[in-house]
Amino acid sequence: MVSLDDPMAIRKADEHGMLEFYMRWADAARDAIQRARAIELPTELRTRKGVIRYGQPEALAIAGMGGSVIGGDILRDILQDEVSVPIEVWRDYGLPSWLGPGHMVVAISYSGNTEETLVAFSEALKRGCMVIAITSGGYLASLCRKTGVPLLEVPGGRVTRMSFPYLFFPLLVFLEGSGLARGLCDLAERAAGLLSSMAKDLGPETPTEENEAKRLASRLVGTVPLVYGFGWLKAVAYRLKTQFNENSKVPSFSNWFPPMNHHEIVGWEAEEELLRVFSVVLLRSRGEPPEIRRRIELTKEIALEKASNLLEIWARGSSKLEEAISALYIGDIASLYLAFARGVDPYRTESISALKRGMAELRIADKVEKEIEGLAIG
Ligand code: PA5
Repeated sequence: MVSLDDPMAIRKADEHGMLEFYMRWADAARDAIQRARAIELPTELRTRKGVIRYGQPEALAIAGMGGSVIGGDILRDILQDEVSVPIEVWRDYGLPSWLGPGHMVVAISYSGNTEETLVAFSEALKRGCMVIAITSGGYLASLCRKTGVPLLEVPGGRVTRMSFPYLFFPLLVFLEGSGLARGLCDLAERAAGLLSSMAKDLGPETPTEENEAKRLASRLVGTVPLVYGFGWLKAVAYRLKTQFNENSKVPSFSNWFPPMNHHEIVGWEAEEELLRVFSVVLLRSRGEPPEIRRRIELTKEIALEKASNLLEIWARGSSKLEEAISALYIGDIASLYLAFARGVDPYRTESISALKRGMAELRIADKVEKEIEGLAIG
């Protein structure tokens, strides 16, 4: 157990430099934008199945698992009422049946070895989609080299979830580069600027009473965080749930408005004793639509005030992108402080590693490699 007002103890507990890297997220975001800008998409790619022509896509799919693909959900939430093509986020083996030529698939696996993503990558190539990959290495990098699929390589040696800037910001660059949206690179640069201005406020040296992430973490100790978002903060709520799971090692769940008003709210009629185990974290925006604001306020009165803690993260910045990124930054860092306060290591995720080791016995990655070798020319 670490006192959140002891920066030295926090540094010591941050054995793998996760928090330290979060303090440099703004630089990582700028580096990611630059790397993505340097990727030149081919006009066409030849495989043994035919020619894939690259151009403005009629649909965009982002395929991956866990921390690799969450940026896809955030992208969809902030852009879905601005971009005129469907944005699909795919977390499974294979791909949805409707994807094919004329559609772009961005396959993301930080390690490059996640089997569901490798299968999706192979399927996209077989179907003639315009494929792009983002990875730090592994099978995915090697399959791209064999086939000539455009590859954005990002720095390795970290865990996926802390590498979020490298996995998210390039999507904005690709979307703008493919002609589907304008101004995203400028927005991305501004979001990086916001991260840089927030880092010190949330850092280990800033005491709990002035540090929003530490304040949140200290209230969450001993409870199950329930995170609620809406609209452009929907995926951020899910991201925070996953960070409380993986970094803080606690059960955590998320939902969003309006759907939670149509089912989950009734669960709050349960006995007080049962409800006391939960802390609620509401993601708020100064620009939330009036009907959403009214729903949140009513839900607080009718249900959520029965929780052990009712906490709010007010997003910062002046665009949906900045709001999503700022709320995510605060919540992610809070999940690290919660880990330190609980005396657990935020870096290791033993259950995920054990599961992946067990699944590796099926040798799915090797099967995909063989399939791709059959598709590649030369
Ligand atoms: O955070 C994690 O470690 C997981 O959620 C991974 O992101 C997920 O298993 C996918 O792995 P990768 O990102 O290497 O494809």
